[in-house]
Amino acid sequence: MKIFLIAGARPNFMKIAPLVHELRKGLFDIQCQIVHTGQHYDDDMSKSFFEELDIPEPNYFLGCGSGSHAEQTSRIMVEFEKICSSAHPDLAIVVGDVNSTLACSITAKKKNIKVAHVEAGLRSRDMSMPEEINRIVTDSISDYLFASEKSAVSNLKKEGKARSSIFFVGNIMIDTLFLGLKMIENTKPENNQPKSFAIVTLHRPSNVDNKEKLSGILRALRQISLDMPLFFPVHPRTEKNISLFTLRNLIEDSNIKTMPPLSYLKFLALWKDASLVLTDSGGIQEETTVLGIPCFTIRENTERPVTIKQGTNELVGTTYETIMKAYERFKNGFRKKHKVPELWDGKTSERILTILNNSK
Ligand code: UD1
Repeated sequence: MKIFLIAGARPNFMKIAPLVHELRKGLFDIQCQIVHTGQHYDDDMSKSFFEELDIPEPNYFLGCGSGSHAEQTSRIMVEFEKICSSAHPDLAIVVGDVNSTLACSITAKKKNIKVAHVEAGLRSRDMSMPEEINRIVTDSISDYLFASEKSAVSNLKKEGKARSSIFFVGNIMIDTLFLGLKMIENTKPENNQPKSFAIVTLHRPSNVDNKEKLSGILRALRQISLDMPLFFPVHPRTEKNISLFTLRNLIEDSNIKTMPPLSYLKFLALWKDASLVLTDSGGIQEETTVLGIPCFTIRENTERPVTIKQGTNELVGTTYETIMKAYERFKNGFRKKHKVPELWDGKTSERILTILNNSK
């Protein structure tokens, strides 16, 4: 079987890495070509992930870059269609919920190429999130729906997807997490790393594209940083808006240490020792649950409810007041009981490839 393995944006790269490594073992009758749409293109948003996670140079680089949703999605579709026409793969594997996921799944399906979606069935029920639209559309046309948690399986069933297309395989991000932890096991923390610190990541348009919202969140971070230092690798979108909204004064002369986006391993080496993580990312909610680190998700909802039910994740809202309320509880010693969700065991890529290999 000839497959395209597709990635475009930062959170995709760590999801394709375990599939690439598993295929390398030569146990499956699958020929894989890697397609990079170019949605993320900066070295620190893309290249560093390929290098560190030992993903080979993509067979195809579509160079689609940034733009409005329609511009970005349509550019990816046009370029991806060309390579589908010339290479005729049997299957396209798409991961996650970014615009590249949507664009490539639609294009492949219309070229009569089967689609497998890794991380299918997650739902935030928030249609103002572009990712929610991407998830729903991709799942509606995928032939293989690989779910990371049980709630995703029940969402897919409720939406009427064929039972035979739904597979509960666990969380592929955790395959990469275990690999990453192994890679850095002999790395010592930086000399100047404090004993207690928090990590921040922030990039969702709903949080960072609105001046009032962003300023409230930064004020809360500034307040928390009076108790412990905060390390904040800043996403390009957020960096741009901090300047545009003239909010840099909220970060300057504080215990918030900003830096450019970090590579996968550098970021892991830092957050694995954090006392608290504050984020609006999807994947970090899952990763912190596995390592048992308290996670404040700066959102009103999550498509990953198992991290709330069983993990360390808390939805803390998006205002100064709600974030500080959660922080006060944390400061007073509140910690959630937690356990690692089912099948988040580092073997998800093996399960996915076995299913695909057996269903040819
Ligand atoms: C995308 C995903 C989001 C994911 C996030 C991780 C969609 C709809 N969103 O959001 O789900 O959580 O990636 O980062 O696909 N930029 C650069 N360099 C880059 C990439 C982007 O400077 O390498 C800047 C550009 O100005 C661009 C902006 O960041 O306009 C946003 O990039 P884009 O890919 O549109 O979305 P993200 O916010 O990164």
